[in-house]
Amino acid sequence: MNLLDQLEQSKQQINHYLNHLLLQRRAVAPRLQEAMHYALVLGGKRVRPFLTLQVGQLCGAPSDVIMRAAAAVECIHAYSLVHDDLPAMDNDHLRRGQPTCHIAFDEATAILAGDALQTLAFELLSAPHLPLNAERQLTMIQVLAQASGDHGMCGGQALDLAATGAAHLPEPELAQIHEHKTGALIRAAVMLGVLAGDDEAQDFRQHFDDFAYNLGLAFQVRDDMLDVIGNTSSLGKTKGSDAEANKSTYVTLLGLDGAQQRLQEFHQKALHALTKITYNTELLAAFADHLLNRDH
Ligand code: IPE
Ligand code: IPE
Ligand code: MG
Ligand code: MG
Ligand code: MG
Repeated sequence: MNLLDQLEQSKQQINHYLNHLLLQRRAVAPRLQEAMHYALVLGGKRVRPFLTLQVGQLCGAPSDVIMRAAAAVECIHAYSLVHDDLPAMDNDHLRRGQPTCHIAFDEATAILAGDALQTLAFELLSAPHLPLNAERQLTMIQVLAQASGDHGMCGGQALDLAATGAAHLPEPELAQIHEHKTGALIRAAVMLGVLAGDDEAQDFRQHFDDFAYNLGLAFQVRDDMLDVIGNTSSLGKTKGSDAEANKSTYVTLLGLDGAQQRLQEFHQKALHALTKITYNTELLAAFADHLLNRDH
């Protein structure tokens, strides 16, 4: 199966799983649940679940565990987007081609939907009786928690906000922001696939992590570029939002050509890490190419 077919198939699989997950939950607060559904199920490229599914399969992980882990990462990601769009953060009005959650609902509901999506991720991962050794399961929970909190995504978001409107940052500081706000969750998506895998796969942890680290950085550089060269309708979010908010990005720091050059450097490092893994990583390499040339 070629990459695009595989992407489509895993997107349908994860969408079905997420939809079912929310539908089968008793709606204690129907409006909250509607906002969670809105933010989680509608749209999105499902980049992180794809990584968890592919890496999990390569590493011999049980399919139930892979799906849970993929869904858990997407819950954290969806929550991060809802909060990222809030007026107190990036103040954006369009996400995944629709009004942002706080516009479609209201700010309080959007905050709570983000909170509830975050805890749902850990509910998924902490389910008892998974076909996985308990210590490995705890490690997975810890990896996702660390990638999400002050040492991961939230930390990066805080640094991003602190740098907004600031004079040009030195590149290592900008890299640190991107590594945390975006890279951490992409690394977790890959690492959960490895951790859910068999013992042999654990030998490749470091190489998978090197792949994910560089892919995550390159992914956010491309996101910065698309804010300038993309278009609102294919992006599904407002082009020029970074410039409008005076964000520090790879484009403001290095220009479009400089950003593209960095992207290629990270891309090459990601591909190099894959060559150290003795499994068939062709699809992951093709996915990296696809992702880093994307127009949305
Ligand atoms: C957007 O992530 C935010 C970043 C971390 C760059 P995606 O580009 O993966 O957004 P969706 O999930 O496809 O909407
Ligand atoms: C977002 O970075 C990273 C998150 C943790 C959500 P951006 O603020 O650049 O993401 P977009 O461009 O709004 O999707
Ligand atoms: Mg932001
Ligand atoms: Mg944003
Ligand atoms: Mg952006």
